[in-house]
Amino acid sequence: MTRQLGVIGHPVAHSLSPVFQGAALRHCGLDIRYEAWDTPHADLRMRVDALRESGVIGANVTIPHKESVVPLLDELEPQARAIGAVNTITNRDGRLEGSNTDGPGLVRALDQEAGFAVSGSSMLVLGAGGAARGIVHALAAAGARDMSIANRSPARAEALAAEVATAGHDTTVEAVAYPASPSGFDCIINTTSVGMLGTGTEGQSPCDVRLASPGALAVDIVYAPEVTRFLADATAAGLRTLPGLPMLIYQGALAFERWTGHEAPVGVMFEAARSELARRAGEHATPSS
Ligand code: ATR
Repeated sequence: MTRQLGVIGHPVAHSLSPVFQGAALRHCGLDIRYEAWDTPHADLRMRVDALRESGVIGANVTIPHKESVVPLLDELEPQARAIGAVNTITNRDGRLEGSNTDGPGLVRALDQEAGFAVSGSSMLVLGAGGAARGIVHALAAAGARDMSIANRSPARAEALAAEVATAGHDTTVEAVAYPASPSGFDCIINTTSVGMLGTGTEGQSPCDVRLASPGALAVDIVYAPEVTRFLADATAAGLRTLPGLPMLIYQGALAFERWTGHEAPVGVMFEAARSELARRAGEHATPSS
């Protein structure tokens, strides 16, 4: 019998997960279907309960449900508990386990795609929203030496810095003013939506990354457009860059490995995601009449 996986979100039609997870499952010859499960808030409990059925392996969770699913699960991994958000659910014989692979996915993308070791490094994180939260906890868990958090609303940066500082890691964490000076850091990560397609901030950058120290790595978790203003400025200034797609792929790869026990075919996942993004870009460029 074909077993099931899916992504729970609302809206979820544009999620890339069915595209690259489906490609990975087919590549590995697994008889598992990965679907988009559009779930308005009123249906969330029913949808999550249905994951306990024996033919269901688990699910990804995306906007806006990453926090609201937490009380509906039976167990939480420590990292998911610390950040109060789940992006991966695994059905273990009817018991639902929640984990969060978003931050660890970025740490793995930094290592595999940029050759950057978080351990011992000095990090600047721009933004203090949901995405930043998962990332700063993962960076601290991966042994970052120090971390500065800059956010447009300073109170959120301060609250996040205080939260990570008390999470029991060796990382020194502080909130700094926004916009931040990127000078003196090994790595600068944009977790804000500034520069993202459809936000009205395309063409803007969350900091003047051209002032970063030579050799620094500039990372944007925004993947549409593929090259944001932040990344273009970084490249023009001779910095190394990592775009947003690798974090998306590696969070999926970690979930895939958790569900299936197979090593994720990361190259296949990248290829499927890139060709879908190119297809969508072509669609936008074509007059719809
Ligand atoms: P996510 O879960 O994607 O992180 P979020 O929790 O809404 O979404 O957080 C969005 C982040 O982008 C926040 O850090 C937000 O800053 P505020 O906390 O001040 O709202 C940041 N952000 C969004 N639009 C911004 C803008 N125009 N300029 C600067 N920061 C912006």
